[in-house]
Amino acid sequence: MAEAILEVRDLHKHYPLTKGILFKKQVGSVRAVDGVDFDLAAGETLGIVGESGCGKSTVAKMLVNLERPTSGTIRYKGEDITKLSPRALKSVRRNIQMVFQDPYTSLNPRMTVGDIIGEPYEIHPEVAPKGDRRRKVQDLLDVVGLNPEYINRYPHQFSGGQRQRIGIARGLALQPEIIVADEPVSALDVSVQAQVVNLLDTLQTEFSLSYVFIAHDLSIVRHISDRVGVMYLGRIVEIGTDAQIYDHPTHPYTQALLSAVPVPDPEARAHRERILLSGDVPSPANIPSGCRFRTRCWKAQERCTLEVPLLAVPAVFRLTDTPAKHDSACHFAEEKQVVPPEEPEEPVGPVGPEKPEGPAVPEEPQEP
Ligand SMILES: Nc1ncnc2c1ncn2[C@@H]1O[C@H](COP(=O)(O)OP(=O)(O)OP(=O)(O)O)[C@@H](O)[C@H]1O
Ligand code: SF4
Ligand SMILES: [Mg+2]
Repeated sequence: MAEAILEVRDLHKHYPLTKGILFKKQVGSVRAVDGVDFDLAAGETLGIVGESGCGKSTVAKMLVNLERPTSGTIRYKGEDITKLSPRALKSVRRNIQMVFQDPYTSLNPRMTVGDIIGEPYEIHPEVAPKGDRRRKVQDLLDVVGLNPEYINRYPHQFSGGQRQRIGIARGLALQPEIIVADEPVSALDVSVQAQVVNLLDTLQTEFSLSYVFIAHDLSIVRHISDRVGVMYLGRIVEIGTDAQIYDHPTHPYTQALLSAVPVPDPEARAHRERILLSGDVPSPANIPSGCRFRTRCWKAQERCTLEVPLLAVPAVFRLTDTPAKHDSACHFAEEKQVVPPEEPEEPVGPVGPEKPEGPAVPEEPQEP
């Protein structure tokens, strides 16, 4: 792997659980993120997947410093950004930007697109002096496939996919090195998802970006990721290259998630085994002892209750030279192919300017 631009170690975010109205007493804690480790190499895309509530957004917020970790380190180019002074942090934050999930709520409806995309320049005027901002914003609109003449329009005059392009343009405004995209396409129609994913792909090459791409849809992540980390209840339980995770998963949770991915080929679909998990995800305020997945795992044994499995190459694969040799937090890791091998990759949709979807953008801006 190329040199890591971001190194995350033993990252925790625990929220206190309190009782009482006047005299709040802490009675426990919600362990939203509970020991996450990963590296992000320069120029790579790391996909993070997992069910709702497993802590993906909390990790994302800590990476861009919207949340302070309870403990653990986030090293950006070797420097722990969780310990920086506010002044030093400001310049680091410029290099790590976020694209949010919901293009409907993440853009201020009362601001023009030009003001939304150019807002980060208020905090970092050194990137674009005042007289230069309009041109910079128009360049950004062009880069994300929108007409630069839309600069004075309001978010409601755009379709969902176009709004997400505005969100991406804003994320690019400060010329960051890393983009943390938290479910950037989950709120979009399937046909538009592919266009936005392709745009992110193109921008990555053009601007040498590194991505942390968060999603719960494993099929979307595969198209864009070099490596994938699977999260369960606050921790990464398996991580590897996209081929290792999709074609040679060794953790039962990954296998179950993959068995639910839609398979287009009817014959392959008929032959694959669907793994249905029993029970609900436990509360992050009450995480099971030993392996946190054990309450839903069909392979669980006594050892799983007693011993926490570490995220490492399992002993059975350590001396092998197979794709199953990758980090998996399971005492009884074994390979199981659950998804039919992928067809040769075809482009998932047109790259470049978005085709209009839904009602066309009106010619003249309307008042919000
Ligand atoms: N401010 C908070 N106070 C208390 N608990 C919180 C807070 N923020 C998040 N949580 C809890 O932490 C856990 C992880 O939340 P998070 O939003 O990171 O999950 P997620 O994986 O992004 O889920 P989703 O797929 O639904 O977006 C959840 O149980 C959530 O309820
Ligand atoms: S350690 Fe045990 S409970 Fe956990 S995933 Fe492996 S087999 Fe299942
Ligand atoms: Mg989330």
